[in-house]
Amino acid sequence: MIDRARTLIEAAEQIVAFSGAGLSAESGVPTFRDAATGGLWEGYDPTRLASPGGFAADPGLVVEWYNGRRRAVHRALPNPAHRALAARADVMNVTQNVDDLLDRAGARSVVRLHGQLALDRCHGGCGYEETVDLGDPPPLRECPHCGARLRPGVVWFGESLPIDAWAIAESACRTCDVLLVVGTSAEVYPAAGLIALAKGEGARIVVINTNPSAASDLADVELIGKAGEIVPGLLER
Ligand code: OAD
Repeated sequence: MIDRARTLIEAAEQIVAFSGAGLSAESGVPTFRDAATGGLWEGYDPTRLASPGGFAADPGLVVEWYNGRRRAVHRALPNPAHRALAARADVMNVTQNVDDLLDRAGARSVVRLHGQLALDRCHGGCGYEETVDLGDPPPLRECPHCGARLRPGVVWFGESLPIDAWAIAESACRTCDVLLVVGTSAEVYPAAGLIALAKGEGARIVVINTNPSAASDLADVELIGKAGEIVPGLLER
């Protein structure tokens, strides 16, 4: 199976890597849903922690929860899968991850569908944004421009994806020859819809996951195992 995937990759002119939380799991960043180990959403209600309604109900709780995730990401290091994806300048990285591990691995540009932990932005919609130190994130505070609350710069349930990032990702998935689907449960839409979109336009789908996932049925090649152990061997020249 690895050889089949490598052959597809070698023949491809345009490769897109669509990643999820499993990409960062071996760096010690917890996933959201994981059949084997549970995940962040086990024991938490996503609508309390990752939705506009949850933020309105208890903004301090939400910011503290995100600050815990920020500190965990700050302590983490890129793993071999991040480094392999970053090393191939011809691979476009489209990620659902809000950590900065692909960037720290040296990826030149990362298309982020769900925003990033390293930003705060105004929840009031005035457009104010500020970079946050992941190692020492600030507590809940007001927007210096309009006085509304600042919130983590991530996409929450019920919110739209960033228009520019989505347009780039959609267009790349329409034209790519191979879509690598790395460490995602492929359950959260619209992001997960990129896989069927690419497949429908003729791309070959290579799925790398420790378990079968919602992407399994779309896979031309499914490689079951850890991203950090599989992705480097797939992408090395
Ligand atoms: P999930 O937590 O839903 O899925 C993680 C996937 O990674 C699972 O299918 C695991 O089997 C797999 N996995 C775990 N460890 C792995 C490893 N070492 N190598 C390869 N695969 C591994 O995470 P996402 O699919 O990213 O959204 O979740 C999508 C979105 O749901 C997230 O971006 C987040 C979440 O709610 C928002 O916060 C808006």
